[in-house]
Amino acid sequence: MKAAKPHRDSKLAVAEMTANQAKREHARLEAEIKTHDEAYYQKDAPLVPDAEYDALRQRYNAIEERFPDLRTLDSLSRKVGAAPARGFAKVRHAVPMLSLENAFSDTDVTDFVGRIRRFLNLKEDAELAFTAEPKIDGLSMSLRYEGGELKVAATRGDGAEGEDVTANIKTLKDVPHKLKGKRVPEVCEVRGEVYMTKADFLALNKRQAETGGQIFANPRNSAAGSLRQKDSSITASRPLRFFAYAWGEMSEMPADKQSSMIKWLGSAGFHVNPIWKLCHSAEELLAFQHEVGLKRATLEYDIDGVVYKTDRLDWQERLGFVSRTPRWAIAHKFAAERAATVVRDIEIQVGRTGALTPVAKLEPVTVGGVVVQNATLHNQDEIERLGVRIGDTVTIQRAGDVIPQVVEVVQDKPRGKKAYKFPTECPCPLKTEVVREVIAGGEAGARAHCTGEFACPFQRTQHLMHFVSRRAFDIEGLGEKQIELFYEQGWVKEPADIFTLQERDKKINLKDVEGYGEISVRNLYQSIEARRDISLERFIYALGIRHVGETTAIALARGYGSWQAFHDAALKVVDKDEEAVAEMDALDQIGDTVIEAIGEYFGESHNRKLVDRLVGQVSIKEAERPKTDTAVAGKTVVFTGSLEKMTRDEAKAMAERLGAKVSGSVSKKTDYVVAGPGAGSKLAEAQKHGVQVLSEDDWFRLIGR
Ligand code: IVH
Repeated sequence: MKAAKPHRDSKLAVAEMTANQAKREHARLEAEIKTHDEAYYQKDAPLVPDAEYDALRQRYNAIEERFPDLRTLDSLSRKVGAAPARGFAKVRHAVPMLSLENAFSDTDVTDFVGRIRRFLNLKEDAELAFTAEPKIDGLSMSLRYEGGELKVAATRGDGAEGEDVTANIKTLKDVPHKLKGKRVPEVCEVRGEVYMTKADFLALNKRQAETGGQIFANPRNSAAGSLRQKDSSITASRPLRFFAYAWGEMSEMPADKQSSMIKWLGSAGFHVNPIWKLCHSAEELLAFQHEVGLKRATLEYDIDGVVYKTDRLDWQERLGFVSRTPRWAIAHKFAAERAATVVRDIEIQVGRTGALTPVAKLEPVTVGGVVVQNATLHNQDEIERLGVRIGDTVTIQRAGDVIPQVVEVVQDKPRGKKAYKFPTECPCPLKTEVVREVIAGGEAGARAHCTGEFACPFQRTQHLMHFVSRRAFDIEGLGEKQIELFYEQGWVKEPADIFTLQERDKKINLKDVEGYGEISVRNLYQSIEARRDISLERFIYALGIRHVGETTAIALARGYGSWQAFHDAALKVVDKDEEAVAEMDALDQIGDTVIEAIGEYFGESHNRKLVDRLVGQVSIKEAERPKTDTAVAGKTVVFTGSLEKMTRDEAKAMAERLGAKVSGSVSKKTDYVVAGPGAGSKLAEAQKHGVQVLSEDDWFRLIGR
């Protein structure tokens, strides 16, 4: 391979170019890219490695971003089929990046405070303090400092693994490259929010509109889009900011309270939000939320609620986590934003499980800065309850990322003529009869569904879309459009087909299909290959079992550890094997609904075959199991009687954190029964089975506390 001779402008940073230099460099790059394109496409003989070609493209785009006049109609950046940006490198978070549980009402907040008091077994007059601060509507970021220097910046990603955006983050003024102060831990991960102010967002969109660039829906999207640039000089030209509010791995803790940590973050050189307060009761928290709510419109940046965090860090540790959210914190969201608009039509969408969802097609309207054109009507009963007709004016609401929904019909506006009739035939080509699910007692439930199951193309494509979605297999380059196309052509009918696509390409010749070229086809196959190794939780989630969302999938993966173990258990559940059902039921977060859904899914032979074919194509990693290096790892423990040093919830959480399984009943499989005063039948059971009985003190000695 022989690269073109570098020109003297080719070393110059885009941010430092004069208009003339930019023009020259733009023209030079254009010629060079064309040469490479020709060599690549026509002669099948690339002159440079992919990465080098990508770098030229990025530099070319970055110049246009800074000097929009250069983006003429025949610019290479407008060419369809240009090489898409490759993904960022993945970074595994040393400490997972979690999310927060939401509180929507005052009662949710009093419940939160009550729950914490109970968990910690606090006396009524014991002081319990919380920090309260705004919840910034941006994207969370983890900044890893070693020896005080910024080493890695990573996005949240799926919480366990994010994307390496270090070069881009280093262009933010608010992010110190070196930490200040004396008490700087050797390893220090600072977490917080990257955001864009409302004014900067509007100005950026105006510039984008003038230059034919991408228009962003809201400040958060524009912050995300600006950060996910392969060329950091584009990020540098975007006004991104950062507030620090949390941390991940810390070799030493500089403080022992949330409030002192906020102050420490400030002293280390970060911007911390000045609007925060130490509160001592639910009433004070609610007053804070109300006060911030009044200020919300005048703040420079978007917020979508406030966050309350238990102040004492030792209590945060005791409280721990429930799956992916801490028990010690909660996000109190602001009420949803509403707007009125006209229903132009009602369409029926078929979901991945065959559920028919009526969707109101709306006269476009802006709600909380986002243009809304569709709102869900949930189901037939909801349409009847609301009395919605096509042509009605309705109030819609949108809260955070939730799908907008129709709240009510505005009665004093002109009404639609005819009542809406829910279809009796599925809109899919099979035109199957629509049936309503039967709920307990034989009554018709609210959910109507298509009976076509896997023969229904809508369900298949929805299922495939779920399979490739971000939280499932996350296959870059396979979105709605591609799935529909591949399905229609018969190239991908089920998940396993995605992984055999490349070997069938000789027949398909994807590069000759409109919208594709040699490079994009290569990228697609690369991103498919990259996903052949998949974590167990993603795999289980991707199967699209009803009621098995991400959290449940994680619980199942942790509970069983390997695909083999989960699969064996699932097949036994199909056979209603009592022991297998009880074992699944004992897992945190798993109850009857999920077990039933797993039984139904694996009870269906079509599903079993589909899963087997898929398993043959991928390699499923074992799940991160709970700790194995503790004295109680893998042991089954039963707590009984009234515990005195910890609450039952706390005991359970602690044991699980140390890798033990906590069960409610004693059997011969139980390893320890921890008994407090007043223990009754379980103690007798323990003696019967010869299970070791521990006092609370014995337990603490055993776990080394
Ligand atoms: S604390 C363990 N504080 O909200 C949880 N999060 O739903 C640590 N966020 O992913 C997060 N403002 O992106 C925290 N003041 C704040 C926040 C905040 C915004 C975001 C963050 C997180 C999400 C949680």
